[in-house]
Amino acid sequence: MRKTGEGKQIGFVPTMGALHPGHLSLIAASKAATDLTICSIFVNPTQFNDPADLAKYPVTPAADIRLLTGAGCDVLFMPDSPAEIYQVQDPPLPHYELHSMESLLEGAFRPGHFQGVCQVVHQLLKIVQPHQLFMGRKDYQQCMVIARLLEQIGSATRLVIVPTVREASGLAMSSRNTRLSPAALTQATAIYQSLTAIKAHLQPGPVQPLLDAALQQLREAGFEQTDYISIAHAQTLEPVSHWDGQTPLVALVAAFLSGVRLIDNMALT
Ligand code: PAF
Repeated sequence: MRKTGEGKQIGFVPTMGALHPGHLSLIAASKAATDLTICSIFVNPTQFNDPADLAKYPVTPAADIRLLTGAGCDVLFMPDSPAEIYQVQDPPLPHYELHSMESLLEGAFRPGHFQGVCQVVHQLLKIVQPHQLFMGRKDYQQCMVIARLLEQIGSATRLVIVPTVREASGLAMSSRNTRLSPAALTQATAIYQSLTAIKAHLQPGPVQPLLDAALQQLREAGFEQTDYISIAHAQTLEPVSHWDGQTPLVALVAAFLSGVRLIDNMALT
C-alpha cells in the first residue's frame, strides 16, 4: 500500500533528537514504505518523571539535521517550545487507559511516563496526520503502549515496529550511550549478553533461575542497580514465572551503569 487514490502515504518518525543509526533505520523504513517521510524532534517534558533526566537529555540539533538530510528525510518538524505542542487543547487531552502497562516494568519505575508519551504522540499525530507511524523495538513497552493509544483514540494510523539497531558488540543503540565512557560502553554489552543467555537457556518450566543468572551477570559487569529484569508475555508484558513452552515471550531489562539508565529487550520465542 504505497500510494492511494486520495494521495500520498505519509510516514512519521517521532524522536527526541540526539539521533543515531537506530533512528535512521526508522527513517529508512518509512522511506521504503511511504511517499513522504516526516520526522519530529521534540524533547517532551511531560514524559520525564525525573527532572534531572530531562536536564541531562542530549540536545544536538545541528548534527541531527545533518543526519536527517543525509538519510533523505523529507520534512523535519522541530517545535520551539512545549507551548507549540500543548497550547491548543480542544478537546482537552484525555487520560489514557493503559491498564497494567502503567504498573509494569517502565510503568512501575517511571510514574506518569507513558501518559506523557501518549500525550505527545497524540498531539503529534493530530498535527502530522500520518498513514504510518514508525517506532523502534528497543522501546518495546512504548510500542505496546502506542498500539493501545491508537486503538483508544480510534486512529487509522498503522504502527510499524522496526527492529533494534545494535553496535557490533550487541549493545542496543541509544541516545543515552553518549553519556558512557569507552570502558562503560564495553561493560554495557552485558545487557545484550544477559538477554542472549536467557534466550539460549529458555526451556519449559520455571524461569527464575534464568533471571537470577542474568541479574548476576549484570552485577558482575558493574551495573550498580537493576530496576527490573523480566520474562514476560510478549503482548501484555505480564511476568511469566513458569513457561508452558507456547506462550510468546519477551525478556526486558532496565539497569543503571555509571548512573545512566539503559533498557533493552529480546523476543524469546
Ligand atoms: O521514543 C522516544 O524518543 C519518545 O518517547 C517519543 C516517542 C518521541 C515521544 O516523545
